[in-house]
Amino acid sequence: MSIRLLVFDSGVGGLSVLKEIRRRVPTADILYVADDAAFPYGDWEDEPLKAHVVATIGRLIAREAPDAVVIACNTASTLVLPALRALHAIPFVGTVPAIKPAAETTRSGVVGVLSTPGTMRRDYTRALIRDFAASCHVRLVGSSELAPLAEAAMRGEPIEDAAIRFEIEPAFIEVEGRRTDKIVLACTHYPFLLDRLAALAPWPVDWIDPADAIARRVVSLLGLTAAPDAPLAPGTAQLTSGKPWPSALLPVLARFGLEPR
Ligand code: DGL
Repeated sequence: MSIRLLVFDSGVGGLSVLKEIRRRVPTADILYVADDAAFPYGDWEDEPLKAHVVATIGRLIAREAPDAVVIACNTASTLVLPALRALHAIPFVGTVPAIKPAAETTRSGVVGVLSTPGTMRRDYTRALIRDFAASCHVRLVGSSELAPLAEAAMRGEPIEDAAIRFEIEPAFIEVEGRRTDKIVLACTHYPFLLDRLAALAPWPVDWIDPADAIARRVVSLLGLTAAPDAPLAPGTAQLTSGKPWPSALLPVLARFGLEPR
């Protein structure tokens, strides 16, 4: 029997993580849940968001009985993983800012972290910087707008260059003649804007997307065998609002082999 995975995000950003999981373990039976009823998570206060995500995931586990849960959202993962692990016996894989790989590979020593405001202010994020990037200059940029802009872009709506540029520019800094050379995409929505981010960047940088590392973690934690050539198992996608998926997103779901539920 194939493994049943629940992949969860506030919106469609978590599909950037799902894509890599699908690539490594196409046979996994996947339910993707977007918490559109509560999107965006970025500006929520910590305690209400924690209570909301813990309750929502609890209901989904009771109803869907997944073998494991992937929280494909930095804003939630940096807040709720210990509480979820204390409540449920199944494995959880989180998505947290890829500060360590950025710090290990930066040549200038100047690293930007693009995230939601929630992820930016988390103790978890500060601890990652303290533990893995103490020798770097790290610029944290919390944007309330980029995740909604990414959702709009995925629905095929036009997004002004200026709107994106305004959000990303603060991550580009110069410190004693050294410029930002790595930017961590610390929100799972942002990889879907990558072409635009790269085109609008004041200078070229490496954009660090942890999605493949998360997929590898899923494979190793669950003791799965990566089978990239196996046929893609059908998956399903659901909205917490209970509304039907917007028609503009149906081709996006189809691209990831997901049927709207
Ligand atoms: N995709 C989510 C993340 O990785 C956040 C988007 C939001 O709901 O604000 O942080």
